[in-house]
Amino acid sequence: MKRLYIETVGCQMNVLDSEMVVADLRRHGYELVGTPGDADTVLLNTCSVREHAEEKIYSQLGRLRIDKASRPGLVIGVMGCMAQKDQKIIFDRAPYVDLVVGPGQLHQIPELLDHVRQGKGRQMAVSLSRTAGSLESIRRSHETFDPLRDPTMRPTPYQAYLRIQIGCDKFCTYCVVPSTRGPEQGRPPAQILDEARLLADQGCKEITLLGQTVNSYRFVDGNQVTTLAGLLRQLHQVDGIERLKFVTNYPKDMTDDLLGVVKELPKCMPYLHVPAQSGSDEVLKRMKRGYSLADYLAMMDRIERILPEAAVSSDFIVGFCGETDHDFAQTVDLVKRCRFKNSFIFKYSVRPGTKAAERFADDVPEEVKQARNNQLLALQNEICEEENRKFIGRSVEVLVEGPSKLAVKRGDHGPLVQMTGRTPCDRIVVWDGNSRQAGQLLPVTIHDVNAHTLIGSAVTADHGPEIFSILEAPAKERR
Ligand code: SAH
Ligand code: SF4
Ligand code: F3S
Repeated sequence: MKRLYIETVGCQMNVLDSEMVVADLRRHGYELVGTPGDADTVLLNTCSVREHAEEKIYSQLGRLRIDKASRPGLVIGVMGCMAQKDQKIIFDRAPYVDLVVGPGQLHQIPELLDHVRQGKGRQMAVSLSRTAGSLESIRRSHETFDPLRDPTMRPTPYQAYLRIQIGCDKFCTYCVVPSTRGPEQGRPPAQILDEARLLADQGCKEITLLGQTVNSYRFVDGNQVTTLAGLLRQLHQVDGIERLKFVTNYPKDMTDDLLGVVKELPKCMPYLHVPAQSGSDEVLKRMKRGYSLADYLAMMDRIERILPEAAVSSDFIVGFCGETDHDFAQTVDLVKRCRFKNSFIFKYSVRPGTKAAERFADDVPEEVKQARNNQLLALQNEICEEENRKFIGRSVEVLVEGPSKLAVKRGDHGPLVQMTGRTPCDRIVVWDGNSRQAGQLLPVTIHDVNAHTLIGSAVTADHGPEIFSILEAPAKERR
C-alpha cells in the first residue's frame, strides 16, 4: 500500500477534484493518511484566486522540504489552479517538488506518480493556455474526469458536489479562473444524470451543482438546448435525492424561468449565491462584470417577486483599483438594501496575467482595504444576526450533517452530542441530539441565534422515548 496525504484549499471545485483524485488513487493501491508525516506521497490541491492562497501553499512546501530532507523517498505533488498558473515556476521556487498537475490533467496523476517512482524525474502536465491552439483543442485539454467518486472524501456521506460546468468565459478583469480552468463548457445532461443516480445509490441526499457561473449552463445537442432550469427538472426525478442546490450564479443569467423552476420544484432549495462584487457602476465597469447596480437591483426585485422565500448571498471585493470612498459607500448601501443572508468579503489582490493587473494601478492602500473590509463585514454580521433572529420560535427542516465542529473538537459522544445541519436556505443549525440523526431530514425548533448559527432543539422518533422517560421519572416517584 502506498500512503497518500492530500491537502485542499480554494473553492468547491477543488474539494470535488480532491475527492476524484483520491477515488482514482485508491483504485491504484493508495490508502489515505491523516498527516504528511505518515505519507509517502503528499499532494497539495491549490488555488490562485488571491495571492494569500498561493503564499500559504509556498510556505507549506517549505515545511515539506524539511520532511523530504529526512525522507528522500517522499513524493511531493502540486495540483490545481496554481499548478496551471505557475507551471515551471513551481519547480524553480521549490526544486524538491516532483509533480505539477493542472485541473484538466488530474486523471493522469496515478501514471505520473509511477513515473516519478520509476526515476523518470519531475513530471508536469498542464492544459493549453487560452491562446495556444484551436478552441476545440484548448477545451479538450481542460476536460475533467467527473464520474469517479469517493463517498468517504465528502464533507458528509449525504451531501455531494456535482460539476455541471467546467471553466469560465466571463473574464472579469481581476480574476484568474478563466485562465486556470479554461473555456466554459457545459457537461452533457446524460452524464450529469448518471452521476446523480450514482450519488443517490451511494446514499447521497443533497446534491450541489457546481459551475463558476452555474446559471449560464447550456448544453447544445443538435437543435435541443438544455439550460440549468431544464437540467433541474430532470434531476428532480432522481429518486433518493431530496435537495438540489447550485452555485455560483452570475447576476445577468438569473432568468425568470430558472427562478420559476426553483419555486415550482420542491427539491430545489430557495438559496441563491449571486455575487454582486461592488455597488458602484464605475467599479463594476472596470471589473467588466457586465451589469450595472440598477441591473443587480432589478434582479433582486425579480427574486423577491417570484421566490420571496429565497435567501440570497453575495461576494464583494473591496479596494479594487480606483475604488473611492464614494464607490465604497455605494457598496455599503447595496448591502443595506439587499440584506444578504451572508457575504464573503475579499480585499482586492492583484493577479499577474489578468486585465486589471495590466491596465489599472492597485492604488487603494492596504490600510484602506482593511478598513473597508472590516466595515462591510461588521455591517453584514449585524444583518446576519437580525435576519437570523426572525427564525426564533420557528421550526425549520434540517438535513443533519453530523456532530458539530465543537462536538468533534471536544471528542463528545453520547447520550447528547451537539449536532449540526443546514436549512433549505443554507443556514447552519446546531442542537443537542445524537449521532443516529445524521443523514435525516429533521424538524428543529429554533430558540436562539447568533450571526452565523441558529440554535435549536429537536425531538426525533429515535430520541423521543429517552426524553420521555427522563421527564416521566420524577412524576412516577411523586406518586
Ligand atoms: N465564479 C464565481 C467565483 C469565483 S472566485 C463568481 O463569479 O462569482 C470567488 C470570489 O473570489 C469572487 O466572487 C470574488 O469575490 C473573489 N475574487 C476573485 N478574484 C479576486 C481577486 N483578484 N482579489 C480578491 N478577490 C477576488
Ligand atoms: Fe472569475 Fe468572473 Fe468567471 Fe467568476 S465570473 S470565475 S469572478 S471571471
Ligand atoms: Fe481558486 Fe481555482 Fe477555485 S483559483 S477559487 S481553486 S477555480
